[in-house]
Amino acid sequence: MAKGNVSISVIRRLPRYHRFLKDLLASGTVRISSGDLSAKMGLTASQIRQDLNCFGGFGQQGYGYNVKDLYEQISRILGLDKHRKAILLGAGNLGRAIALHMDFASRGFTLIGIFDSNPVLVGMDVGGIAVQNSAGLEEFCRQNHPDVAILCIPKEAAQRTAAMLIQHGIRGFWNFSHYDLTLDYDGIAVENVHLGDSLSTLCFRVNELEQ
Ligand code: NAI
Repeated sequence: MAKGNVSISVIRRLPRYHRFLKDLLASGTVRISSGDLSAKMGLTASQIRQDLNCFGGFGQQGYGYNVKDLYEQISRILGLDKHRKAILLGAGNLGRAIALHMDFASRGFTLIGIFDSNPVLVGMDVGGIAVQNSAGLEEFCRQNHPDVAILCIPKEAAQRTAAMLIQHGIRGFWNFSHYDLTLDYDGIAVENVHLGDSLSTLCFRVNELEQ
């Protein structure tokens, strides 16, 4: 269970609620019934009620949900207004794509530094941030106190780099290296991302259709 006894599966659904509500807001929708929201999201109305009740419940009987209120409440629950400081390690193909295309601000983060061990990449501009040599990473952490690190480095480098970063106060990892950090560290928030796992799941499901 996550903090406050809310299950991690509920927490994992919150960004999806947030995304749907953002689209509804952008389309000018003021309120939505739980039935309409559930139809849009492919969840049952009772699942949505149960999820939101974990945080006090936000709907009104006979009215449904005020879209702007619910969007703001979920933003607050997710802590998206905190703008925590993030650094990115590995300015290769993946790291650059993430640095350039991820809207960090709307996800609660500010990207404050990009690091790579390859001197050839040092100084390269990636979305307005100059890549720094990872030799200066510890000093940067001492001075700037980043909260989270995004790991786009090979798995051999991820383990030792993570250990050093934890010593320097990093409390969360968005980990793209193919090394599952959660196996080693307690008390640190880790999101391991394996796009390949999702693709393999798709493979299974497509195969299943042919059975
Ligand atoms: P890449 O080779 O283009 O970039 C890796 C970069 O990391 C290089 O620029 C290299 O100099 C740098 N690097 C290596 N050790 C470092 C260290 N200790 N500190 C700082 N920088 C360091 O590789 P690409 O395609 O960008 O992929 C990066 C990693 O992410 C790979 O290990 C790959 O297997 C993994 N990956 C994971 C995916 C996922 O879904 N989780 C998807 C695609 C790649």
